[in-house]
Amino acid sequence: MSQAVDEIKIGGLGASRKRVEDSRFIRGKGNYTDDIVLPDMLHMEILRSPLAHARIKSIDASKAWDIPGVHLVLTGEMMATRNLAWMPTLSYDTQAVLATDKVRFQGQEVACVIADDPYIAKDACEAIVVDYEPLPVIVSPEQAVADGAPVIRDDKENQPDNVIYNWEVGDAAGTERAFAQADVVSKLKLHYPRSHPSPIECCGSIADFNRATSKLTVYMTTQAPHIIRAAVAMVAELPEHMIRIISPDIGGGFGNKVPVYPGYVCSILASILLERPVKWIEDKSGNLISTGFARDIYLDGEMALRKDGKILGVRMNCDADHGAFFSDAQPSKFKIGLLHSAFASYDIPVAHLTARGTYSNKAPGGVAYRCSFRVTEAMFFQERMVQAAADDLGMDQAAFRRMNFVRDDQFPHRTPFGFLTDSGQYAKCLDVGLKAIDYEEFRRQQQEARERGRLLGLGISTMTEPLGAGNSREYDILGIKMFDSAELKVHMTGKAIVRTGARGQGQGHETTWAQIVSHELGIPAEDVVVEEGDTDTAPFGMGTYASRSTPVAGAAVAMVARKIRAKARKLAAHLLEVSEEDIEWELGRFYVRSAPDRGVTIQECAIAAYSNMPDGMEPGLENTAYYDPPNLTWPFAVYIVTVEVDPETGVWDVLKMVAVDDCGVRINPMIVEGQIMGGLTEAYAMSNMQFITFDADGNCVGANYMDYLLPTAWETPGFELHSEVVTPCPHHPIGAKGIGECAAVGGPAAFVNAVMDALSGTGVRNIDMPLLPDRVWEAIKYQRDVSGAPPVRSED
Ligand code: CDP
Repeated sequence: MSQAVDEIKIGGLGASRKRVEDSRFIRGKGNYTDDIVLPDMLHMEILRSPLAHARIKSIDASKAWDIPGVHLVLTGEMMATRNLAWMPTLSYDTQAVLATDKVRFQGQEVACVIADDPYIAKDACEAIVVDYEPLPVIVSPEQAVADGAPVIRDDKENQPDNVIYNWEVGDAAGTERAFAQADVVSKLKLHYPRSHPSPIECCGSIADFNRATSKLTVYMTTQAPHIIRAAVAMVAELPEHMIRIISPDIGGGFGNKVPVYPGYVCSILASILLERPVKWIEDKSGNLISTGFARDIYLDGEMALRKDGKILGVRMNCDADHGAFFSDAQPSKFKIGLLHSAFASYDIPVAHLTARGTYSNKAPGGVAYRCSFRVTEAMFFQERMVQAAADDLGMDQAAFRRMNFVRDDQFPHRTPFGFLTDSGQYAKCLDVGLKAIDYEEFRRQQQEARERGRLLGLGISTMTEPLGAGNSREYDILGIKMFDSAELKVHMTGKAIVRTGARGQGQGHETTWAQIVSHELGIPAEDVVVEEGDTDTAPFGMGTYASRSTPVAGAAVAMVARKIRAKARKLAAHLLEVSEEDIEWELGRFYVRSAPDRGVTIQECAIAAYSNMPDGMEPGLENTAYYDPPNLTWPFAVYIVTVEVDPETGVWDVLKMVAVDDCGVRINPMIVEGQIMGGLTEAYAMSNMQFITFDADGNCVGANYMDYLLPTAWETPGFELHSEVVTPCPHHPIGAKGIGECAAVGGPAAFVNAVMDALSGTGVRNIDMPLLPDRVWEAIKYQRDVSGAPPVRSED
């Protein structure tokens, strides 16, 4: 009879184990960057540009130097003498650390003051006199390429205009042929507005250079500590083994904490110069105005359709506004990230995408805010275009999708832009969603309501997301291949520590990595501690973003546990005095095949590794695994929303929302549900309340939480989550796919599609996000589309 341990009881795969990290977070005992106080620590503040585009005629910092308590004023000129005024970006561009020649966006870093406390530093920043000569401002791709547009990046050789790249992918000629055969061509133009990840904790760093040891330790809010170590080694020309990056607890990242920001670089230089620890903590406006913008992309899409509903081909043209520096992290081969993952949910024979990136006088943008490198935009375009196409054909939304979905027997499936998706049951997910929303009944009620002047709508969105960059053949950042790592040490008493190259920002890694170890070894999850974020102790990894942790670092945890199990098997054979071939494994225990009662637990193997190993065996029970995934993982989801729109005010309310997510095997179902709810909340916010726009002078509108609205529990609707469809990932060691971003990626189109469905028949084809009441009202009243970023209304 089996003596295996009960996996759910020990907190293994599938256990909704409570998050272990929460016990310190809810007690206020988290250790965030700003909690860290070092002896002799100084404080840094940044002076930012009030103008979006201006030549710097002079900077006079003499008054700032005179303020008691000021230790250092850094300017671009000083940085330039050390070759640090500019830094390389993750997209092979350059970015100003402190402005030298010009400022190129409002909020750009112009100078830094390091003082005894942050208040003195702030006052001293205000004492710095900068003489600016204003220049014409560009705030859209259209303006960027207009005749006579000022060249924003005149610092660069071979940059005669504001175009960063022109890129294309797909089959142009084949797509042309598909359109020639189409019965109907459906067209749609969209804008995905700028948004901001807005983690509750802003960015910050404490650099501590110790002249005696020559060691630089930096505590900082980074999602990718090892990449930062490599970048510091390159930029500051310090030896890599003398750099220690520690990413302590992080209060949310969502992509905001991937890039390298000038504040990090300046605090490091200041600490080296002053030989004292220097702390920089960004304030909320600084965070909203200068770091981590996402989206801001215009799409022009066309779909070739047969009249029975079959999609024959797709054409997409995208214009991406990257701001003043092309600095978003992305796999280097794909200029616009993974935007060409669009239409991965559908079986489309041919497609062609052209993309252009331009500079503007906005803060650098395009970060992967809760998505894999532009996938949010890709899926939004996909689902908005699918809805428009079904409407153009007069077909039912669900039937049109079902007809064009990739079928279960088509996996692995080559997407129209060349990705290979792994597995899925798309139609089944849709069926679960339609049943949950009671589709037929809602359509009946919608018709009935319409007759009484009430506007009800139903929006469907699906998404297939490429998660887990990468495989090293295709994905790298600055030439460093995208893989990840895990180190597992099993102590002699059977307790263990896992370290990975990932770095969670609240996703629950400390809970779920332990569950993977439990699943592989039968060690109770509570006996496994997880540590991430310290480059002196964690194995090299590419960090956490793009929901890559479970697909890559999580896989590495499973693989290293298997290495441990292989060694433990040898120990078991030695302890049981049989040959290894005669040994069987069941969770937590090896036994003799011919005598199942004779066995040893994994804990007994652990102590033997330190006290009773066979001759010639290296003592100890620890190992490291580097995991290079064979492919991305491809979760799928269906989100369905019903809404009611008030035609008098344009206000719309969610009646019901259902989410059907298939992320393969769920390690911790409760954590997965939390991830989905968080993503749906962000999706709801993006669709109806959030935007960061710019006036004609490049002033950023949305630099505080009065203008940039975060959804609270008050306005966020309830979500009904469904988990009945599970398609294990065929190439992941435990069958898991990523989940962290799916709902933020697929959710926005569901809300917009629902409002557009409510307005069907009014002649309104599109309202660009956010669907603020005044925009919806305007569309209804004038029966026209409302496009582009929301206009900034003047006081009168
Ligand atoms: O990279 P990131 O941690 O942001 O995203 P993820 O890999 O999708 O994981 C988010 C959280 O959900 C982690 O705690 C995962 O371990 C957990 N998860 C899970 O329990 N089961 C899955 N199939 C996927 C993620």
